[in-house]
Amino acid sequence: MEEQPLRSQEWFGRTGKDGFIYRAWMKNQGFPHHLFQGKPVIGICNTFSEFTPCNAHFRELAEAVKRGVWEAGGFPLEFPVMSLGECQLKPTAMLFRNLASMDVEESLRANSIDGVVLLCGCDKTTPSLVMGACSVNLPALVLSGGPMLAGRFQGRKIGTSDLWRFTEDFKTGKMTQEEFVAAEAAMARSPGHCAPMGTASTMAAAVEALGLALPDNATIPAADSRRKVLAHLAGMRAVALVKSQIRPSDILTRAAFENAIRVVAALGGSTNFIIHLLAIAGRVGVPLTLADFDRLSAGVPLLANVQPSGEHFVEDLFYAGGLPALMNQMRHLLHLDALTVTTRPLGENIEGAPCHDRQLIAEFDRPFKPAPGLAVLFGNLCPDGAVIKPPAATPALMQHTGRAVVFEDIDDYKKRVDDPALDVDPTSVLVLKNVGPKGYPGMPEVGNLQLPAKILAQGVHDMVRISDGRMSGTGFGTVVLHVAPEAAAGGPLALVQNGDLITLDVPARRLHLHVSDEELARRRAAFVPTDLGYHRGYVRMYVQHVQQAHLGADLDFLQGGSGPEVKRDSH
Ligand code: FES
Repeated sequence: MEEQPLRSQEWFGRTGKDGFIYRAWMKNQGFPHHLFQGKPVIGICNTFSEFTPCNAHFRELAEAVKRGVWEAGGFPLEFPVMSLGECQLKPTAMLFRNLASMDVEESLRANSIDGVVLLCGCDKTTPSLVMGACSVNLPALVLSGGPMLAGRFQGRKIGTSDLWRFTEDFKTGKMTQEEFVAAEAAMARSPGHCAPMGTASTMAAAVEALGLALPDNATIPAADSRRKVLAHLAGMRAVALVKSQIRPSDILTRAAFENAIRVVAALGGSTNFIIHLLAIAGRVGVPLTLADFDRLSAGVPLLANVQPSGEHFVEDLFYAGGLPALMNQMRHLLHLDALTVTTRPLGENIEGAPCHDRQLIAEFDRPFKPAPGLAVLFGNLCPDGAVIKPPAATPALMQHTGRAVVFEDIDDYKKRVDDPALDVDPTSVLVLKNVGPKGYPGMPEVGNLQLPAKILAQGVHDMVRISDGRMSGTGFGTVVLHVAPEAAAGGPLALVQNGDLITLDVPARRLHLHVSDEELARRRAAFVPTDLGYHRGYVRMYVQHVQQAHLGADLDFLQGGSGPEVKRDSH
């Protein structure tokens, strides 16, 4: 292929005043003149932040990427973008995913970048960087930070999913405050993102299955020296992608999205993946709907025995052969000709990938669980859809009718959930409103509501729960999420009242509110949306423009892309 002129030469290749300005200040970093004479500039888009502990090792990782870029003849330049720490940001990191994607998009377009390595880790840092990069469409690949090593506590391995169990034990007095604090330090004992197949690892796996990351990107532990080897190779690969001018739009085809959906189903991955993948598809203009997730996940059994759907951790999946071995087991379901950043098709990347441990990666015909990893529900309570994760749910509750116990918002829930007078029993259906994109705002991970204390005291650990919010990828339970339209947008969820009967029927993909259309119309006429008082700044823009969950919760005006072209020079 004929080599294209480098985009960076529009900055550095100039003569006269403009060239002087673009190069002179860069030279204060000690870069010799020849670096500006036609080497591919590889941006290293870094989400390092000490407020994002899952990405706190990224300065070191960036150095390994740079070594690879230098070796391949490129010129690496690292730059920061907004970092989203899932456990630190209030009210929720998801509120800022779209803002961070705008930062990435504008930073990539405005700078003298030919290609980019996206350093992604904690949950929202992967979708925000990929969304932004797709809207610019420069050659790009993802390097994930890798999962933490599993924690060790009181003689057993622990990970983020144990937080929910510890919280229940603490609430019911089985765990002391001292043990609770000791568990904190034992769980997050190494660099990296959450150790189970939570949202971070699900998204790292998704980009690997999409072909936007090198093989093994999803599973090499952050603390393993092979993560730095992968970083070095990613740097080299970025230079090669610039030379071959392979862009995200060449890789992110409909076939690639279908591969990602099926692989994540086999992993028992996070439900958050659905929202993020819809948003990414919207940026590259690939039509994708909620129904696609259900259709493509059907017939895909659980092949990875990793928490929260299974027993082990993502690091164990790496030792067993990683995603290449898993994808090799299900290769008959994948589009093997889909292009990847290796410049080879997916089928060649995974050809002959061995499995070293059948406790971790099952043969396709002998899966860990036959249920699909994701199911999409429709019905009069969710006309635009809702989702549930069957492998993380209780089989006996998959077809269930119960009376609603309604919480109007998260504050109402916190105030009343442990009230001994709360009229609830184990067959009730807990309904939480106003935790959707507009309603919270930002659609937080609160959908796997803690059960009322009086229910836990009966030894019951799961009930049907329904909300317009999300759930942590490490969460579990019979939890219906992403109800669309959300309550704050006037969806039927807003009209549910205490005592209404609700039927969840996962095999029939149905969520039904047993209230007549006439009664719902009467309630709708009396519905008054709440003014949350967000009248300025980014949050005002977000609330006005955020789309519903079934569309990926992106801002409406961010759909699609504007490419890498800059229409005006500054000098
Ligand atoms: Fe960062 Fe879980 S908190 S990945």
